[in-house]
Order: sequence, then structure tokens, then C-alpha cells
Amino acid sequence: MKNYKGVTALVTGASSGIGKAFAEDLAERGAKLIITARSESGLQAVAADLRARFRSEVVVIPLDLGQPGASARLMEAVHSQGLTVDLLVNNAGFGKWGAFLDIEPPSNAEMIQLNVTALVELTRLCLPGMIARRKGGVINVASTAAFVPLPYAAVYSAAKTFVLYFSEALWGETRDSGVHVLALCPGGTASNFAAVASDLPGAGTGRPGLDTAEFVASEGLKSFLRRKTVVITGKGNQRLLWLPRLMSRKQIVVAMGDRWKAVVDQVAAARKARPDA
Ligand SMILES: NC(=O)c1ccc[n+]([C@@H]2O[C@H](COP(=O)([O-])OP(=O)(O)OC[C@H]3O[C@@H](n4cnc5c(N)ncnc54)[C@H](OP(=O)(O)O)[C@@H]3O)[C@@H](O)[C@H]2O)c1
Repeated sequence: MKNYKGVTALVTGASSGIGKAFAEDLAERGAKLIITARSESGLQAVAADLRARFRSEVVVIPLDLGQPGASARLMEAVHSQGLTVDLLVNNAGFGKWGAFLDIEPPSNAEMIQLNVTALVELTRLCLPGMIARRKGGVINVASTAAFVPLPYAAVYSAAKTFVLYFSEALWGETRDSGVHVLALCPGGTASNFAAVASDLPGAGTGRPGLDTAEFVASEGLKSFLRRKTVVITGKGNQRLLWLPRLMSRKQIVVAMGDRWKAVVDQVAAARKARPDA
């Protein structure tokens, strides 16, 4: 694939943040969009904007990918409209910050279902058609959290490590098939992510040093066309690759734990200070 003109792209988690930015960038580059997330009103607003600005063809399929069986239902809805997916952007995801024992088991299960299971299922459902047509591929949104075990975000960082390893391994299997697989690993990015992770509405959006969702999506789309396998966004985040040469694995985990414990403590203090606490 040399560009995105005329390509049909399925973007999950397109109602906000990085997924919305992917949809906008792809629409501007001439792609047809299938966008999904839970919020129908959020998706309709994105679709209306893309149709108005770029005259894009946009299909909206609201769905909760955190529910078992949702990936199959999504692809049935795609096929029932006579559509085939050239580019799958597995972006929908969320994290939870807190000690493992403080995060309720259903929340952990949903994190794994959405960040891991749905991503694998959608890839499995879309890949055969791409390979048959020798066109397109998959962008999986992992995270810089994939490179280091994160105490106080244990399930999230493990889920993103899965996404990274799965994507690279799949690239290894498909590299001669005419399709491409990219793991996009954003660092801190301004979106709803921190609000969801901390249960604090508005949290994190104004934090200095965050990338914009638009920058992250654009890096992802450029890197996919350049056939990169892994891309890390965010200033200085490349150093994560060097950490294991400088510190023992235990030292890395302790340092990350100290850092994330401070974040979790700040979040707890901010929650306590809320008027409704
Ligand atoms: N922001 C960061 O700092 C950062 C860093 C590294 C990686 N990432 C990754 O980037 C991806 C996008 O996150 P973001 O930062 O753009 O956060 P965001 O603004 O919260 O966007 C998350 C998207 O996922 C959708 N979503 C959440 N739960 C869903 C579910 N059960 N079923 C279907 N869709 C669901 C949300 O829409 P609805 O609520 O409408 O369902 C939304 O469109 C995630 O995979 C995240 O892990 C983010």
C-alpha cells in the first residue's frame, strides 16, 4: 500500500483521542472509514465532521468491544454493508492506575478483553481477506508501557506487552504476504486516557510534555507506509529500549514502581479533594 486513497479503514475507539485523530487523518488522505466505539453520539459527531470537511464515506457502528463476541458482531455488521477492510486500526483500549488489589476484577477482565482479546479477534477476522488481496494490514496501538513492567498499572502494561509481541510476531509471519503489521507505541498523549485510568474527569489533559493525538496518529500512518514494525512516539521515549543495558530488570521495576506509586498517590489525593468525595 503506497497511500491511503480509496482504502477502507476500520478504526476502533474512534469517538475520541488517538482513534478520532486516526479517523480524521485517514479521511484527509482519502480513505473510506468504518468507525466504532461505544458512544454512538460521539461517533456520529466524528462522522458528520469528516463528511463535512473531507466529503468522506463514513460508516458508524457503535459497539462495546469489551463484551465477549463483540468482534464477530462488528465484522458481521461490516460485511452486511458489503464492505471489506483494507486497514485495521486496533486502537480502542483503556488502562487503570492503582495497586493490583485495588482494581476490581471485572475492570481487569474488561481491560484484557478490550486491549488484548478483541484486538486478536479482529486481526484474525480481517487478515485472511487482506492476505487474499495482498493489500493493507494492521496498526495495533500498544504503548511505551509495553517495554517495561509497570507496578500500579500491572494488567495494563502486561496487556500492552502482549500487543507489542503479538504484532511483531505477526509481522514475522506475514512479511511476504503483501500485508504489513505495525505496533504503534505512544508515550503520554493528551486524550481521555488519564481521566479513565484515574477515574478523575479531566485528569492529565493539561500535563506538560504530552503529545497530541493528531501527532501520534500521523506518526502511525507515516510509519505504516514506511513499513516500520514498531514506532515509539514521545520525546525521549526511545531511551526505554536502552534501559535494560543500563539497569538490572529488578532495578527497572523498582524505579518504575516508585514513579507510578507517586502518580497513584496523587490521584488518590485528588479524588479525596473532590467535592463529591
Ligand atoms: N493517551 C495516552 O497517553 C496513551 C499512551 C499509550 C497508549 N495509549 C493507547 O491509545 C489507545 C487510545 O487511547 P486514547 O489515549 O485515545 O484514549 P481515549 O481518548 O480514552 O480513547 C479511547 C477510545 O476507546 C474507546 N473505547 C473504550 N472502551 C471501549 C469499549 N469497551 N468498546 C469499544 N470502544 C471502547 C473509547 O470510546 P467510547 O468510550 O465511546 O467507547 C475511545 O474512543 C488505547 O489503546 C490506549 O491504551 C494511550
